Amino acid sequence: GRVGVLLGGRSGEREISLMSGGGVLEALKSKGVDAHAFDPGLRCVTELASEKFDRIFIALHGRFGEDGTIQGLLELLDLPYTGSGVLASALSIDKIATKQIWLSNSLSTPEFEELTVDSDWDAVVQHLGLPLIVKPAHEGSSLGLTKVRSVEDLPAAFALASAMDKKVIAETCIIGDELTCPLVGFGETAEALPVIKIIPPQANYDFHNKYFSDETQYLCPTGLSPEVNLAVQNLALAAYRALGCNTWGRADVMLDQKTGLPYLLEMNTSPGMTSHSLVPMAAKAAGIDYAELVLWIMSQTLS
Ligand code: DAL
Ligand code: MG
Repeated sequence: GRVGVLLGGRSGEREISLMSGGGVLEALKSKGVDAHAFDPGLRCVTELASEKFDRIFIALHGRFGEDGTIQGLLELLDLPYTGSGVLASALSIDKIATKQIWLSNSLSTPEFEELTVDSDWDAVVQHLGLPLIVKPAHEGSSLGLTKVRSVEDLPAAFALASAMDKKVIAETCIIGDELTCPLVGFGETAEALPVIKIIPPQANYDFHNKYFSDETQYLCPTGLSPEVNLAVQNLALAAYRALGCNTWGRADVMLDQKTGLPYLLEMNTSPGMTSHSLVPMAAKAAGIDYAELVLWIMSQTLS
């Protein structure tokens, strides 16, 4: 059938999504699939109804793409789509709702609180310690994120994040290894792919170092002990199941260098598929190339 690849969109991660979607489109075409791009950032989404697509590959990131809204529209249009459904998408895009679900399942995640204009900066520092992380609750790719090292820097960090989002989160900064673990499948049969360790320049995995730096190093296998790898995979898998995710996702995790324990940062339900992206990297380590991965994800819309 005719496949629509949704790419671009209207979020802060539009440029990243154009790269992800471009890769996906090319891979599908290389496998002989009748695939076409559709950019909801340039066209009205309601035009999806007249495109006569049989299935949809969602390569959008962030708001209006990864947050349950487009998933809801596709449900209404009776169009099968890749990835998580409405509820899991909406929960996962919200870093605070995500952490509440994880905590209610006894899964480790850094201490946090929502910041508002009325927050008492000294009390926040008292609660979370320094350094702490401030970020918009619904953005990806580290957009609007600040590592705050002193209480004086908190107001500016809050202003930056709140310019992007009505909801802002502050969380304890875990010092240690930056890890990520892709997940595939659904429910009890879901599985974890190999864990990746990320070593960004100056320990700063920001927007630039995520997509445009050749200095960021990625280790897969991680070089960590089999026990630690397994603990990270099990935590990521439990995090994915707790949110009710489907098809695929990627859990970002910090390994605390003091305790050696992993902490969940967030779940990405429409992970990057660019040439620098992590899910394709982990799949490759598991013996699955980019085009095979794309076809497999696509095939999940049938089930
Ligand atoms: N939010 C970006 C696309 C990722 O997690 O890969
Ligand atoms: Mg993210």
